[in-house]
Amino acid sequence: MRFIYFICGSKTQNNMKFFIDTANLAQIKEANDLGILDGVTTNPSLMAKEGIKGDAAVMQHYKDICELVDGDVSAEVIATDFNGMVKEGEILAALHKNIVVKIPMIKDGIKAIKYFSNKGIRTNCTLVFSAGQAILAAKAGASYISPFVGRLDDIGFDGMELIAQISHIFTVQGYETEILAASIRNPIHIIKSAEAGADIITSPLASILALLNHPLTDKGLEQFLADHKKLNA
Ligand code: G3P
Repeated sequence: MRFIYFICGSKTQNNMKFFIDTANLAQIKEANDLGILDGVTTNPSLMAKEGIKGDAAVMQHYKDICELVDGDVSAEVIATDFNGMVKEGEILAALHKNIVVKIPMIKDGIKAIKYFSNKGIRTNCTLVFSAGQAILAAKAGASYISPFVGRLDDIGFDGMELIAQISHIFTVQGYETEILAASIRNPIHIIKSAEAGADIITSPLASILALLNHPLTDKGLEQFLADHKKLNA
């Protein structure tokens, strides 16, 4: 649900959620233990990175992730035709109530998103690189769209401009589809996504942890502890 209010011309909405973009159980647990994790996104590359192969192992891994985190877990279909995506998506959705079926931004993908939307199965439209793609996925009833910020930056476009543009369009048009800023590569991407109106960021653990760091925090804490020690030695 997209809650939006206009106050003096500016927009406020639900707090931006934090998802972790990995299939690594230890990293998911570490982020979850911080108390700030709202969900997980995976993709076939991230599953391969963990050496998860074979349908049974993949399904078990999704279940393991769902047991670790109380939040949405995106699980991606491999098929690229409508019937194949529907078949895989229904199997994935049946694994756990928190599974969101991840569907690629292709013609049959839009048809599949519409199909799942009609059935009340939630979807995350992945590989979104333009506002037009975002509008189409929202129109089809995607629960989430995933614009890939870092991969746009990689080819000389400003990924964050796309997040801001989609945020503006969805606000003007009243689309309830949530903007899940993906392909996050650094802490600045997270901060800029919050500024640009993303509903969610999905990030590697390192970029989330990097938000903690500031040299003046370290220096200040060191001084506080040294002063305390002087008086209490
Ligand atoms: O969620 C999509 C993400 O995994 C892609 O990230 O860094 O491979 O562009 P990256």
